[in-house]
This record gives sequence, C-alpha cells and structure tokens, in this order.
Amino acid sequence: MASFTYFSFFFFFILLLVLTFQTSTTKATYSSYHDSSKCSHDGPSIHYPFHIKGSLPGFELLCKENLTTIHFPSYGDLVVKSISYDTKKIQLLDPKNCVHGVFLNLNLSSTPFQYYHVLKNYTYLNCSTKLSTPSFTEVPCLSASGSHVYTVDPELHVPGSCNGFKTVAIPFEYSPYISDNSLGLALTWNLPHSEERKDKAISKTTDSHTTRYTVLGLSMCSLAVAIALMMINIIKVTGSTWNCSEKEDPLLQSLPNV
Ligand SMILES: *[C@@H]1O[C@H](CO)[C@@H](O)[C@H](O)[C@H]1NC(C)=O
Ligand SMILES: *[C@@H]1O[C@H](CO)[C@@H](O)[C@H](O)[C@H]1NC(C)=O
Ligand SMILES: *[C@@H]1O[C@H](CO)[C@@H](O)[C@H](O)[C@H]1NC(C)=O
Ligand SMILES: *[C@@H]1O[C@H](CO)[C@@H](O)[C@H](O)[C@H]1NC(C)=O
Repeated sequence: MASFTYFSFFFFFILLLVLTFQTSTTKATYSSYHDSSKCSHDGPSIHYPFHIKGSLPGFELLCKENLTTIHFPSYGDLVVKSISYDTKKIQLLDPKNCVHGVFLNLNLSSTPFQYYHVLKNYTYLNCSTKLSTPSFTEVPCLSASGSHVYTVDPELHVPGSCNGFKTVAIPFEYSPYISDNSLGLALTWNLPHSEERKDKAISKTTDSHTTRYTVLGLSMCSLAVAIALMMINIIKVTGSTWNCSEKEDPLLQSLPNV
C-alpha cells in the first residue's frame, strides 16, 4: 500500500510539472505574438485589431490617465470597460453617465463599429411639460426644468406639448429601473476584407503555436509515464522486500506472548 502511495505522489508531481510548463509557454507565446498592452493594471488587454494611439494600424484607443478610451467624432470619448476578441464585443461606459445621450448622438455609419445588440427605432421627444402618463419616464440626464425628454415608440401620436426631434435605431428605450452607465453600450466590429484575412492568419499562427506546445506537453507526459513505469519496477522490487518485513512484523510482535 505504501509503495502505491509513493508512486501516485511521484506520478502527479510529474504531471503537474508538465502541465505548468505547457500552460506558461503557451501563454507567453500568445501575448508576445499579439504584442498585448494595457492602459492600467485592471484595464482591458489591448491587441490587434485595437491599438493604443501612435502604435500599430487598427482601431485607435487612447490611454487617458489610467482609463482606456475610444474617441467618436459624433459623440466624444467613451471609456472601454472590456474587449472580447472572441465574440468581437467592446463594452463601453459613458463618462457623462448618460447612455441615452450617447444613443441620441453616436453616429457609427463612418466607423467599423455597429451596436452589439438588436436595434429598434425610438423617437426622442422633447416636451415643455411633463407627460402625465405614468408609463413614460423622462430621461434625467437629457431633461431640464422646461424640457422633458422621453424615448417612445415612433408609432405613438406625439402629444401637443412635445416635439419629436429625432428617431434613431437604438438597443434600449429609457428605463428608470436600469440606470446603468453601460447597458446597451456594447459594439461589435467588422474588418475590411483584406484585414479579415490577416486576422484569420494571426489566429491560425496562434493555433499552430498552441498545437506545437500541446504536442510537446503530450510527449513530456509520455516521458513521465515511461519514468513512472520504470519506477513501478523499482518499487515492485523494493515493495516485495517491504511486504516481507510487514509479514514478519506480526510474528515478531506475537513472540513475547508465547
Ligand atoms: C485612476 O486614477 C484616478 C485619478 O487619476 C484615481 O482616483 C483612481 O483611483 C485610479 N484608479 C485606479 C484603478 O488606479
Ligand atoms: C450619420 O452620418 C452620416 C454621414 O457620415 C449621415 O449621412 C447620416 O445621416 C448620419 N446619421 C444620423 C442618424 O444622423
Ligand atoms: C428605423 O427606421 C428607418 C426609417 O423608417 C428604417 O429605414 C430602419 O430600417 C428602421 N430601423 C430599424 C432597426 O427598425
Ligand atoms: C429640448 O428643448 C429645449 C427648448 O427648446 C432645449 O433647450 C433643449 O436643449 C432640448 N433638449 C434636447 C435634448 O434636445
């Protein structure tokens, strides 16, 4: 029994060593290949197709103090909360805390970005008096004492005190229950065809690197198994000796009783 425990410990130790080696090598290759960077310790990791202004080609991000930001001429700066390169999703925050102000003004038509969520047309109303219908809640960050702003269905008959000043396709109408500064502020991107091929080539290279290290890891595993099998033989020999002494023990202990 003791020999089996020693053998298990040894085997798992080798396995752990191999796995650690494999993971760290793959990670290092991945990040160095992508030349990943960050604006701050907890900021999103930035690599192709994004880049920090003044470095490589791609979508330009700026580090402002410790924040990662992206500039849209139609709106201004938005904070980049996270980037998912797999799902092509960039999650943004409005530093002015007015998501419906962003939806109202952000024009993505001359950018590589589209909203991540499904869009629906809404009309922005600007009313001189508060609407009495409880189902309408004004957008606080766009309203003032003499102007109450609402997002409504474009089909709605515009009340007399209101001016339907813009109809835009946006991810969500205003809800007082979700006063989050990021809800719906997620974009996805499209690369031009030539860039799309480059992106695929990069993922392929990364895949082949990963494959190579997996193969290396597997061969290390086989080596470990081979060493382990050799150890079994050694342990078997030693173990049989131990077994003999174990068998003898009860006999020796019983001797004084006789
Ligand atoms: C970012 O910088 C601001 C001021 O420049 C500071 O108040 C804040 O604590 C910093 N945040 C982190 C995560 O370093
Ligand atoms: C967005 O900008 C384009 C020109 O870049 C313009 O043609 C279009 O009307 C604008 N869309 C909105 C909703 O303002
Ligand atoms: C919004 O309305 C415009 C103009 O009627 C239309 O072209 C567009 O397809 C609509 N968008 C959505 C998401 O329904
Ligand atoms: C709403 O109308 C008022 C008065 O005309 C104006 O001052 C205000 O800027 C408008 N609000 C928006 C969001 O357009």
